[in-house]
Amino acid sequence: MLARVFFSPKVGKSESPKDEENRKVRSWKSRKEKSDYVDKCYSQNPKASFGLFRLSDFRTKKRTTFEAMYLQQLSVINFKNYAEAGLTFSDGVNVFTGNNGAGKTNLLDAIHYLSLCKSYFNPIDSQQIKQGADFFIITGNFNKNGSNEAIACSVKRNQKKQFKRNKKDYQRLADHIGLFPLVMVSPYDISIIIEGSEERRKFIDNVISQTDNYYLDELINYNKVLVNRNALLKQIADTGRYDPALMEVYDEQLIASSAKIFEKRKTFMGSFTGIFDRHYSFLSDDAEEVELCYESQLLTDDFAGLLKKNMERDRFLERTSAGIHKDDLLFTIHGMPMKKFGSQGQQKSFLIALKLAQYSFLYQQNGFKPILLLDDIFDKLDDQRVTKLMQMISNHDFGQVFITDTNVSRVKSIFNEIGVDINLFKVKGGEIDA
Ligand SMILES: Nc1ncnc2c1ncn2[C@@H]1O[C@H](COP(=O)(O)OP(=O)(O)OP(=O)(O)O)[C@@H](O)[C@H]1O
Ligand SMILES: [Mg+2]
Repeated sequence: MLARVFFSPKVGKSESPKDEENRKVRSWKSRKEKSDYVDKCYSQNPKASFGLFRLSDFRTKKRTTFEAMYLQQLSVINFKNYAEAGLTFSDGVNVFTGNNGAGKTNLLDAIHYLSLCKSYFNPIDSQQIKQGADFFIITGNFNKNGSNEAIACSVKRNQKKQFKRNKKDYQRLADHIGLFPLVMVSPYDISIIIEGSEERRKFIDNVISQTDNYYLDELINYNKVLVNRNALLKQIADTGRYDPALMEVYDEQLIASSAKIFEKRKTFMGSFTGIFDRHYSFLSDDAEEVELCYESQLLTDDFAGLLKKNMERDRFLERTSAGIHKDDLLFTIHGMPMKKFGSQGQQKSFLIALKLAQYSFLYQQNGFKPILLLDDIFDKLDDQRVTKLMQMISNHDFGQVFITDTNVSRVKSIFNEIGVDINLFKVKGGEIDA
């Protein structure tokens, strides 16, 4: 585990470095003041940390000022249990409270749509249309570096999804991904640990695609070729006729595409695991030893050789048995699989650390803070870990945050204690009271 280092340029006589850091951070009046402070600290000690973020993280693209992005307004029509709703947000902490089934998570999902063009929970767009209606519309106004960006997503039954930025249709949704980065922390994340490797690949792919447009293109390309190759394997089995020339064409395309994806995943995991270690160590107070490891057949074998070696097997199975579509992430605790040996709390902490590491990575790559959605976070975490998370919020480690909770007095008292103002929305049966 990496130790956490706080940096303090001038240590007061009666104050510990950590106290002074916290006091300074709390006293910031503006983003400009904060970015000036970070710049000053960086010039004094480029290797220092700034809260959980390393100063050097922010300087990789030689930025001199901090950019900012937040969602100012959200409107939904016929979205899940909402007939019509409009909300105006602050750039700090926004909280949705209400009973079970009120529609709190649905609002987070609408925000997710604006950022990633799809639901976090359900890949079928038409199922998000309010029961009995024919369409839904979600619109949002983001403020990005002071400019307004109007995003609109509409889905009509049996029609292609429409997605617009400043009234202009996107040719490809992939071009939108990454413009308004977002991280969701949800109780459903447990599937990343307990389900099959596809969930873990989805996690890596989601993080990389929010910082690299070409990655998503390449992934789409790889999957297309893979489908073709698998169809050919099936055709060979059905007809008994084998066309080695066509197989060779698919293999070449697959090898070229896979090399690009593998390199990007390897490079990403190289920096991501360190960030993850820092977050887990912070959240758990170094209570246990955990590890995150990238597994790929391509780490030890050449893909062309693997395809050749597995040809007989692929023909028998009628699908491609080796390649980056089999990549996985290995999660361990004290050297044992997290899925079997981690307690519920340890698994939860692991997931939160994974998501916070995603947050830091996106922040580092983009130079501005992603939007953070915390669904039912207080029910998920024990008091000590809630305190750690709140510490990060009060240290201004995050930008705009959306939180859901069933208990309005709990959420008020938590934020009251750390002296952070919240913008509270009471949700009831698909209606909102600001
Ligand atoms: N397509 C739809 N049409 C109408 N209602 C829907 C649709 N999809 C979901 N709902 C309703 O939305 C409600 C769930 O909303 P949501 O998940 O946001 O609740 P929540 O406030 O987060 O509750 P909890 O506290 O239990 O997490 C349910 O009542 C569900 O029936
Ligand atoms: Mg919910």
